[in-house]
Amino acid sequence: MGWCPCSGKSNNKSKKKKKPQLDQIQPPNSSEKPKTISPVDVKKETSKDGETEHIAAQTFTFHELATATKNFRADCLLGEGGFGRVYKGWLDSTNQVVAIKQLDRNGLQGNREFLVEVLMLSLLHHPNLVNLIGYCADGDQRLLVYEYMPLGSLEDHLHDLPPNKKRLDWNTRMKIAAGAAKGLEYLHDKANPPVIYRDLKCSNILLGEDYHPKLSDFGLAKLGPVGDKTHVSTRVMGTYGYCAPEYAMTGQLTLKSDVYSFGVVLLEIITGRKAIDNSKSSGEQNLVAWVSKHVPPTFQLIS
Ligand SMILES: Nc1ncnc2c1ncn2[C@@H]1O[C@H](COP(=O)(O)OP(=O)(O)OP(=O)(O)O)[C@@H](O)[C@H]1O
Ligand SMILES: [Mg+2]
Repeated sequence: MGWCPCSGKSNNKSKKKKKPQLDQIQPPNSSEKPKTISPVDVKKETSKDGETEHIAAQTFTFHELATATKNFRADCLLGEGGFGRVYKGWLDSTNQVVAIKQLDRNGLQGNREFLVEVLMLSLLHHPNLVNLIGYCADGDQRLLVYEYMPLGSLEDHLHDLPPNKKRLDWNTRMKIAAGAAKGLEYLHDKANPPVIYRDLKCSNILLGEDYHPKLSDFGLAKLGPVGDKTHVSTRVMGTYGYCAPEYAMTGQLTLKSDVYSFGVVLLEIITGRKAIDNSKSSGEQNLVAWVSKHVPPTFQLIS
């Protein structure tokens, strides 16, 4: 078997991160019902690097993915989020390095998010969205197989850097912001019906060669409002610090909720501060509140 050097990746995180989700807040008049999701009509983007030549997501057996990760060996661990661990793996069948996310089997939201992720990423293709190579739904195992993003996430390059790690230069920061914005524009303006991403944050912006950014994690994504509707009503989900306040308060989700999260990411890129940083003094813990204090009122937008 061809084997990839799983270890030695700069963004290895062995710590378990608890996802600070807003997923249990029930907004007033929330009326979310299970919906049949109709196919999304997606206009294909042509990519300079030819990455849009997508193939339908493949199915894998659990055995294939266990083999790919040497039985989910600890030195293949790339990181861990609220939904499970992500491993670097090698697919013999296609001679390809991949990232394999194994969903936590005890997770409450896991199965629904797994289905949404597979559905969304099978339909949506853009140079600034991560490619889903395939998935595994063997018994109660749920795994997702993505293209491997060699530079990890934007979070790995912005926050808690080890002393020997170089800071991102300004041009690279702007390139990442512009690429993430293009991915979001595609979801909002090119996908039909539009897709609300709901989970825009630094850890979900993955970086390829030359810091090419791609949005990842579509498990919380929602089809946006159609026709005369201005919003979709839904349970409030997302990540504390990135979630638009009007959505958090009402459960009314709009495309602008993503734009708010993008603004938070942009502030993180510009200031190098975290969206929420509990190690700072109380007036500085929330980045948006902290920045607002420093922006003259004339520059503050009302709507
Ligand atoms: N396709 C990929 N290629 C390379 N590394 C990846 C890939 N997908 C995820 N990772 C790594 O695994 C880490 C964990 O990802 P995951 O999406 O599970 O959680 P998260 O986004 O960090 O947090 P949360 O669960 O709160 O969304 C990422 O921060 C990144 O470093
Ligand atoms: Mg993620």
